[in-house]
Parts: sequence; C-alpha cells; structure tokens
Amino acid sequence: MYSEKVMDHFNNPRNVGEIENPSGVGTVGNAKCGDIMRMYFDIDDNGIIQDVKFKTFGCGAAIATSSMATELVKGKTVNEALEVTNKAVMEALDGLPPVKVHCSLLAEEAIHAALWDYAQKNGITIEGLKEPVNDIEERLDEEE
Ligand code: FES
Repeated sequence: MYSEKVMDHFNNPRNVGEIENPSGVGTVGNAKCGDIMRMYFDIDDNGIIQDVKFKTFGCGAAIATSSMATELVKGKTVNEALEVTNKAVMEALDGLPPVKVHCSLLAEEAIHAALWDYAQKNGITIEGLKEPVNDIEERLDEEE
C-alpha cells in the first residue's frame, strides 16, 4: 500500500527536531484526524533556507511527507520553497494512497506557515504566498 520511499521516510525520518530562534516557524493541524505538524526554518540573509526541522504528531504518512518536505526545501530560496507543493512531495515519495493525500497537504501548509512567519518577522512580502490556515480542512473545503 505504501511505496518504499514512504516506508523509508517513516522509519528513518530526516530533520526531526527543533531550531532554536528560528527565522520562521509554522504549525498546522487537521481537526478531522487530529494530526499536527510544525516546521522550523533557518533562513540566511540571502533568503536561502539553510536548515529545516520538523515535529509531527501524526500518522505515518504525515511523518513521511514532513520528512520529504524538509529534504526538498533545504538549500532552496524562499521562493523556490513555494514550489514544494503537496503534489511535489507526493511525487518525490512515489505516491500516497488517496485517503492519505491530505497528510501531504499538511506538509505544504506547514512550509507556507513557516514562510509566512518569516515574512512577518522581516516585514517582507513573498509573492504568491497566501496567509496560512491553522486547520487544513479550510483548504480542503476551498478545493471542493
Ligand atoms: Fe491526518 Fe495523516 S491521517 S495527517
């Protein structure tokens, strides 16, 4: 049911932890399943994401998607990080079962929430970045 990559990132998640004094931190949840994901970014003066850490209280797919998402955004600029959508994360993991697609949306939204926090703290606007939601159900409703 799960790809080898999903199992690998679930069993050996990359970048688990916290960053002290992060440039940006974002937390999102999903009230329906009760899962919560938090992402910490360390962003340098050139807007490059030097380090990423995450903490996920959630299902195996949420852990695998957060792990893969941190790998995909590390070393990227904040604008490039916006291209790390839930689809990109799913593709990098060789897919997810349909009932687990929302878990990858949690990863996308956690990236956006951390970028939003970074932008707020620095008084900048990141083009194309929408104000994040606390509960991804709001996004799922928008898509329906
Ligand atoms: Fe909700 Fe995976 S079941 S994030």
